[in-house]
Amino acid sequence: MVLKTPRVALVTGGMGGLGEAICIKLAALGYKVVTTHSPGNTKAADWLDAMNKQGYGFRAYPCDVADFDSAAACAQKVAAEVGPIDVLVNNAGITRDMTFKKMDKVNWDAVMKTNLDSCFNMTKQVCDGMTDRGWGRVINISSVNGQKGAFGQTNYSAAKAGMHGFTKALALEVARKGVTVNTISPGYIGTKMVMAIPKDVLDSKIIPQIPMGRLGKPEEVAGLVAYLASDEAAFLTGANIAINGGQHMQ
Ligand code: CAA
Ligand code: NAP
Repeated sequence: MVLKTPRVALVTGGMGGLGEAICIKLAALGYKVVTTHSPGNTKAADWLDAMNKQGYGFRAYPCDVADFDSAAACAQKVAAEVGPIDVLVNNAGITRDMTFKKMDKVNWDAVMKTNLDSCFNMTKQVCDGMTDRGWGRVINISSVNGQKGAFGQTNYSAAKAGMHGFTKALALEVARKGVTVNTISPGYIGTKMVMAIPKDVLDSKIIPQIPMGRLGKPEEVAGLVAYLASDEAAFLTGANIAINGGQHMQ
């Protein structure tokens, strides 16, 4: 449903992949869409320029979601320059896949900080404002691999499972304040994150496990985000919604 009064949506990591599809969908529905990129992303200005030539009206800010101070600085700029954040999509994330035998502390920490600490770092900046205003949506992009585990992903599976623990606890605390908190757990979606999987592993070990026999599309996840962000989803909170082509059914 197209919004009558524009709301501000902040999508972390929106330059490409799932995040870009989410930004496009929310913009089409009338949100003022703000996204973030890593501070070192040298293509950010070009991306923003190209998207805004297509009329999306996006704003973009540098933010290292793994760093609390960077998240705070970003949220303050957004609030001052665009307005209070009504919808937060914690989308930014990374993989550092390796078997547990090879897993070192650096790659454990990087994945925990970027995928899980980021939920605290970003949500902390916006949650009080949402409860004070009596309306808000926090949408955490987890993964099927947080639900079922995945070979080579002890770090990522732990971080993504942790995101849903965060979702459930926070959903309880803000349920009476008009704020919903939900997790989306996508299966394998055709973005650069999945294209980094060795092709033989993707073809022999992963695609055959997806009953629909294909990767998901970013737009399919974006449609679900749009629903969770809407007024119609006001009674839906603390959920973990799977969107995985039937790969894992709970
Ligand atoms: N299931 C079962 N076995 C697997 C496997 C899987 N998913 N992935 C790898 N293996 C097996 C390999 O077939 C191989 O078996 P053999 O020794 O019998 O040949 C063995 O594990 C070692 O594999 P590699 O030779 O590739 O070893 P490596 O140390 O170079 O790499 C790896 C290991 C990093 C796990 C690599 O295989 C890999 O990247 N696998 C894919 C991991 C994966 O699925 N990541 C998901 C990324 S997308 C994502 O995370 C998005 C999301 O949320 C869904
Ligand atoms: P992607 O194309 O690799 O995009 C990841 C995004 O995260 C990029 O925009 C990147 O921004 C941003 N990012 C990474 N580290 C960051 C940091 N420290 N600070 C700020 N931004 C950072 O991946 P994707 O496939 O779209 O994944 C998006 C989300 O969906 C992730 O959380 C991922 O775990 C999850 N997911 C993906 C799949 C899938 O199959 N693709 C499935 C389930 C869940 P820069 O480019 O600016 O660094």
